[in-house]
Amino acid sequence: MDFRAWSKERAEHFERVAQYTLPMETKQPWKLHQAMRYAVLDGGKRIRPLLVYAAGQLVDADASVTDHLALAVEYIHSYSLVHDDMPCMDNDTLRRGKLTTHRKFGEAMGMLTGDALQALAFEQVVQAKVNPEQVVQLVKLLAVAAGPSGMCGGQAIDLLAARSQLDLPTLTMMHRMKTGAMIRASALMGIYAGQSLPEPALIGQMAVYSDAIGLAFQVIDDILDVTADTQTLGKTAGKDAANDKPTYVSLLGVEKARELAKEQYNLAKTALQTLEADPRYAGKTQRLHEIADFIMARDH
Ligand code: IPE
Ligand code: IPE
Ligand code: MG
Ligand code: MG
Ligand code: MG
Repeated sequence: MDFRAWSKERAEHFERVAQYTLPMETKQPWKLHQAMRYAVLDGGKRIRPLLVYAAGQLVDADASVTDHLALAVEYIHSYSLVHDDMPCMDNDTLRRGKLTTHRKFGEAMGMLTGDALQALAFEQVVQAKVNPEQVVQLVKLLAVAAGPSGMCGGQAIDLLAARSQLDLPTLTMMHRMKTGAMIRASALMGIYAGQSLPEPALIGQMAVYSDAIGLAFQVIDDILDVTADTQTLGKTAGKDAANDKPTYVSLLGVEKARELAKEQYNLAKTALQTLEADPRYAGKTQRLHEIADFIMARDH
């Protein structure tokens, strides 16, 4: 099966699981449930769930376990997007080709949607049928990635730096935190979904791989903000410049930014080749290779 078919099948599977797992709109408080479903369902590339599924293949993970973890990472990600779009942050009206959640349901519901999705994410992790030590590690991975040293911390740096320019090391750190941390968590959680804890060499190479594609992912996001149109992106193009945000493009220009993303891509591919050379993982890295390729080639 080629990547297009595989990722489509996985995304559709994810959609079905999310459909029946998210709280129903017919249950009170129906407006909150409606907003939560609106924020998660019917949209997005589902890169983080795809990473969970692809990484899970390395350890022959059980399908129900990877479903719980895929839901967990996408709930946190969707929550981060809902809050990112609010007037106090990036103030956006369009997301995933639809009105932003706070625009449709109001700011209070937007805030609560994010809060509730974050709580549900952890509820999903603890439902994964793996041994207790693995559950503890999974909760820790997700908490660290979502919190002040990960996504929230990166978002804080991003907002505090508006209307100023950051130096490259600080900008890189911001990208690794606000976006890289959740990409890393998605890949690492996938390898904690097997019968036992993953071995150190696997953790090491997956950390290198996911850190590299995580940074590349946000650099490409910065590039697409200036090179793609609103229709294709499903979110407002040119928003970074409009909000005077420091980005790889504002600091280095599109070409140099793309070169740096390519360097990260090469690092990611090398980590996978190292794994592929290990008989325990030989023949199991194809989807991870393809996800790295997709991140570089994507147009939205
Ligand atoms: C957008 O993430 C925000 C960033 C972290 C760059 P995605 O590009 O993964 O957004 P969706 O989930 O596909 O909408
Ligand atoms: C957001 O970065 C990263 C998150 C943690 C949500 P951006 O602000 O660049 O994301 P977009 O461009 O609005 O999707
Ligand atoms: Mg932002
Ligand atoms: Mg934004
Ligand atoms: Mg962006």
